[in-house]
Amino acid sequence: MSHLVSPSLLAADFSNLASEVEMVNDSVADWLHLDIMDGLFVPNISFGFPVIEAVRDITVKPLDVHLMIVEPDRYLERFRDAGASTLTVHYEACHNLHRTVTEIRRLGMKAGVTLNPHSPVILLKDILPYIDMVLLMTVNPGYGGQTFIPGSINKIGELRSMIDEEGYDVLIEVDGGIDLQNAPVLVHAGVDVLVAGNTVFSASNPAEVIRMLKEPV
Ligand code: DX5
Ligand code: ZN
Repeated sequence: MSHLVSPSLLAADFSNLASEVEMVNDSVADWLHLDIMDGLFVPNISFGFPVIEAVRDITVKPLDVHLMIVEPDRYLERFRDAGASTLTVHYEACHNLHRTVTEIRRLGMKAGVTLNPHSPVILLKDILPYIDMVLLMTVNPGYGGQTFIPGSINKIGELRSMIDEEGYDVLIEVDGGIDLQNAPVLVHAGVDVLVAGNTVFSASNPAEVIRMLKEPV
């Protein structure tokens, strides 16, 4: 399988959201990444249900929803109803992770689990059989436009081996500071899904940058 690209709407021009979503619709992007922040799990607050629902109504791409919120269990069904295809929760925010991911799947969504940069991939060993995707944060979550943390590369290789040795059907996504320079390195290390915010939306030709991120390595 060739790798997927999931532009992060956080870096879009929110005063022209419809045209930003149209651009993604017309591009070779595979998914659309939506970052939900509650001001508690991370210092920042982004956007919530009204925005997700508005985007759902105009996008043709599956919604890849990244929850940076405490107690995500309170809202799983609402994110499903708002249009999430994949719902990703933070390992660090869940006390009963197996229950949470089981419920996400029961609701008909793909279940993702994400790790902060400080969390080792071995923490996921026992949850891998129950999920569809791991999101490795390559910056500290909360803001777009931060610098990629280089040590993340080793985690990708380690996680790739854990998944492949057991033959699990689990995608590896990376998020934070992804650009045209590090993208091929990440794919080579075993990444399946690249998230990119500023690299896409700050470009003069965002659709062309999405195409370049999609290029096989
Ligand atoms: C950060 C978010 C990212 C963010 C990435 O907490 O999870 O999805 O939008 O932005 P860039 O690609 O600009 O680092
Ligand atoms: Zn994200």
